[in-house]
Amino acid sequence: MDVNRRQFLTYLGAGTAALASLATGIPALAAGQSISGKTADHLFGLEDKKHKFNPKFKPIEPSTKDDVVLPSGYKYDVIAVYGDRINQNGDTFGFNADFTCFLPIDGSADHGLLWVNHEYLGELEYYVTGYDVLNADPKQNKRTAEQVQKYLYALGGSVVEVKREGGRWKLVPDSKYGRRVSGLTKHELTGPAASLAKEVIGTFANCSGGVTLWNTILSCEENFQDVVDDCRLKDNRHYGWVVEVDPFDPASTPKKHTALGRFSHENTAMVIAPTGQLVVYMGDDANDQYVYKYVSKGKFNPSAGKQNSKLLEEGTLYVANFGKGKWIALDFASNEALQKATDSDGKALFASQADVLVNCREAAKAVGATPMDRPEDVEVHPIDGSVFIAMTNNSKHGNFYGQIVRLFEKDGNHAGLDFTFEIFAAGGPQSGFAAPDNMAFDSAGNLWVVTDISSSSMNSGIYKSFGNNGIFFIPTTGANKGEVAQFASAPVGAEMTGPWFTPDETTLFLSVQHPGENLKSYDQPTSHWPKGGNAVAMPGVIAVTGF
Ligand code: FEO
Ligand code: CA
Ligand code: CA
Ligand code: CA
Repeated sequence: MDVNRRQFLTYLGAGTAALASLATGIPALAAGQSISGKTADHLFGLEDKKHKFNPKFKPIEPSTKDDVVLPSGYKYDVIAVYGDRINQNGDTFGFNADFTCFLPIDGSADHGLLWVNHEYLGELEYYVTGYDVLNADPKQNKRTAEQVQKYLYALGGSVVEVKREGGRWKLVPDSKYGRRVSGLTKHELTGPAASLAKEVIGTFANCSGGVTLWNTILSCEENFQDVVDDCRLKDNRHYGWVVEVDPFDPASTPKKHTALGRFSHENTAMVIAPTGQLVVYMGDDANDQYVYKYVSKGKFNPSAGKQNSKLLEEGTLYVANFGKGKWIALDFASNEALQKATDSDGKALFASQADVLVNCREAAKAVGATPMDRPEDVEVHPIDGSVFIAMTNNSKHGNFYGQIVRLFEKDGNHAGLDFTFEIFAAGGPQSGFAAPDNMAFDSAGNLWVVTDISSSSMNSGIYKSFGNNGIFFIPTTGANKGEVAQFASAPVGAEMTGPWFTPDETTLFLSVQHPGENLKSYDQPTSHWPKGGNAVAMPGVIAVTGF
């Protein structure tokens, strides 16, 4: 059933050329020359390391310890936590770190920019704005204007410059690249629904994301409605998009690409199809929501550098019907189901492609897409091109532990309309993991999966045996295919998010999100990570070494 490896590698020719171009310079890069080069390797499925990565570790046992627990021989450095200064202007690192992406400077594996998403505040908002969420009446939003400003500034993303010196990863606090993109930053809209607004203020609820082939990052707006409500914002249609940021150009305006649709975006996984078109896989993380892919109209042009961003402005958005193994185009002009769809009062749901993109969930439902079990991260296998999708769980249907689906595009064509799939790994006590969320591949095609058991169910009831959330290693080929080994365990109340390897695979970046969440009283913190003692727990980003 595996996609034929030779076949997959055949169409990597385009990728090889593209990579050479990336390495020899895209015009207008701030650092002057090669920047990420290898960061985008996995997007091409191009791996010059040829399965060299062979991490050896003795799996850890599930743990309830209030720390990041790692196998013997591995250690972690805390790079940044909420509130740390990241540039000369005094901007500070945001709250609840999520997606991370390392972009090398001058091809270095020890020095680069780290993009980090900042997703939400939850009841830990108290530590950011002083608003007492635990004792506030949820029906009465009494946040002051100043508290709303602090709230919005704490979300979005950070660009931080990071360096490894003397074996330790550190933040460069006065970096010229250090930048906050936040709930207060001006954004542009592109694509078919761009006429919604001339400019949009803010990005937030930034969950996971992805890297592009031209050295920018894509950051995904997930549960935006909570922030819209808490901050009394006017138009929720400005949120729920995929946002492109160029970390190497601090003056650039981030773009929200409406062609990729509006829903609770978890992440993006970009690949070049054999046709040369760019394909972006995406999940909508909610019970009974859908799996999407975007296929660009034009072809990737390696010599066009950052101009390739235009490919994210014109293309077709598809949604998956798993029962038929088909991708259905959410194209208003050609799809009768969209043209005829009405609400319960018989009123037409859509009048244009822009309407379809703004209301993707309704459009997907109207065309008969398959409701899934919280599709979160999607990643493309670097060797055979199969597409892995983490289904976290779906308590509405008795699916409490989740599973990882492996999707095979027909003839390995990521731009095509037909696919088959299998369940690659199932969560549960039998496998040792539950609620799979973000994933990353190493160059040998091993899967690294983080888990997201909610802080309210962690360590209790049917989730007791799993301990705290963790990170798990699962080979996708060979004798140990599908066997799960635990690599790390998170502090109390936290999930680890955004796993990302340096190009030399000696470092794994991870976020530690919401340690101490689900506490009963601010006087009785449940986590003190990372400082220990009586310190209040703080979310942040770490670098794991020892590989
Ligand atoms: Fe923000 Fe889908 O986790
Ligand atoms: Ca997530
Ligand atoms: Ca990812
Ligand atoms: Ca999650």
